[in-house]
Amino acid sequence: MNALEWTGSKVRFIDQTRLPGEEIFVETDDYRVLCEAIRTLRIRGAPAIGVAAAFGAVLAVRGKQFGTAEEMKRVLDAAAAELASTRPTAVNLFRALARMQAAARPETIQDPEILLVRLQDEAMAILNEDVDACRRIGEFGAGLLSSGVTVLTHCNAGGLATAGSGTALSVITTAARQGKINRVYVDETRPLLQGARLTAWELMKEGIRVVLITDNVAGTVLRQGKVQAVIVGADRIASNGDTANKIGSYPLAVLASRHHVPFYVAAPTSTIDPATSDGEHIPIEERNGIEVTTFGGTRVAPEGVEVYAPAFDVTPSTLITAIITERGVIEAPYAPTLESLACTPAGGAST
Ligand code: MRU
Repeated sequence: MNALEWTGSKVRFIDQTRLPGEEIFVETDDYRVLCEAIRTLRIRGAPAIGVAAAFGAVLAVRGKQFGTAEEMKRVLDAAAAELASTRPTAVNLFRALARMQAAARPETIQDPEILLVRLQDEAMAILNEDVDACRRIGEFGAGLLSSGVTVLTHCNAGGLATAGSGTALSVITTAARQGKINRVYVDETRPLLQGARLTAWELMKEGIRVVLITDNVAGTVLRQGKVQAVIVGADRIASNGDTANKIGSYPLAVLASRHHVPFYVAAPTSTIDPATSDGEHIPIEERNGIEVTTFGGTRVAPEGVEVYAPAFDVTPSTLITAIITERGVIEAPYAPTLESLACTPAGGAST
């Protein structure tokens, strides 16, 4: 199942807010539908957001008549600004849009038809690179795990969050195919339950033994010695290795360090942000308090209560054992390797 794909004229995606109860696919040729889908987490996960935005840029100009390429570029830039305003933390969104705008830039192309083909090719390249990156992350990451391990993961960094087989979950599923995985503890991931709803669903489909825990059980299973590795995804990796990921990742890294368990971040190089020096400078999205005051549609907190709902936190690089990318496993000191990887992408333009 592809969570997100290009049909040749439309984007087809699974509505992640309906899982695991219903597998509803949406097809659209309207980039504003994609904006809404990203904002409401129907499409979510850093790489998936980037791929969706790239095709959003295509849809914004596809099927319209333009007198000149300049006119088309103006429409593209306006749509890119709208797409960029949907969520602030995952850098894949901004890097993908920058690539689309760079692809439209060459002054030599004056024919809107040719420009459209170029944009479709670039979006397709972003998608294909993500598929390939997921596979390679899985291979590199599985190499770090020994036989019989139990791992713990947080949020959802699976196929749903990418165009391919996922990041953290690609490591787990690849290792499982090699017979290495005993079981996977999955944090439910309050408040939107990406772990319970999405990760548990994906891993169980793969026939992997899942043990679902509430987020506050993680410390207990780590203290009990039941976990040999923690693996999470990433929304933005600063150039010093500090990593923003789903809220709750940082306390997990502290717990892993306390119990001498490796804490791995698995992410494609498109998640590295060379322009952000450290975690302090990563913009952290704050969500509507209603996501905390309600559970499954039922109000669980008093009316009028004040809520603080950051969607992500930052794990300092000092707590990260290694970052698993499609171009290899990186260990501290992170800065030199991350900077060179981000500036020399395997494919496409650099931001
Ligand atoms: O708010 P979400 O569900 O988009 O947050 C997603 C995460 O934090 C993922 O762990 C991250 O994007 C990595 S996805 C491969």
